[in-house]
Amino acid sequence: MLFWIHLVATGLFLGATAGIALFTVPRAARETTAVEKRASLVRTFRVYDPLAIALLGVMVMTGAWSVTGFKQSLGADYASFAEHLAWKLALAFLVVMSGTWVTFGIGHRLVRQQEWDEPVDEAKMSGLLARLRGAAWTTVLLTIATIVVAARR
Ligand code: HEM
Repeated sequence: MLFWIHLVATGLFLGATAGIALFTVPRAARETTAVEKRASLVRTFRVYDPLAIALLGVMVMTGAWSVTGFKQSLGADYASFAEHLAWKLALAFLVVMSGTWVTFGIGHRLVRQQEWDEPVDEAKMSGLLARLRGAAWTTVLLTIATIVVAARR
């Protein structure tokens, strides 16, 4: 059961983050003014931010709870579990860092700026979209790398 929750949360996180790169950024880029671009991003981030943070929490917690069962499955060789999981956990750590960059570093700041009616910087908007696209793709690739390493152990 834990294992399935771990996998489903991972799949949802991967899909939602790929959606940011594939749909949210291009949709915002098609808007004419920077004000419209920010409003378009904020519509998605209001939903994506709490969802992604919750999913990352579920991924980490169900992963941590699976460690005991995983050790059991290794039997007498249980002490080698760190060897099996080391790369996987290093990558999972990077997924959390990069996912936090998208949600808090970029998304949540935009939501706050919109809520506080802060002026939108026209000149900085295209840089922000490029950064967001890069951050979302980085998170997607790191998540895929973690899945591949986890599946090969
Ligand atoms: C945050 C990104 C993470 C991703 C994308 C991820 C992905 C996966 C995947 C795809 C599997 C299935 C591997 C298989 O085919 O057997 C798996 C298994 C596992 N993961 Fe994670 N995981 C993440 C985080 C964590 C964390 C933080 C921990 C521990 C603290 C963890 C511990 C485990 C364990 C112990 C298993 C093996 C479970 C078993 O075989 O019963 N994972 N993970």
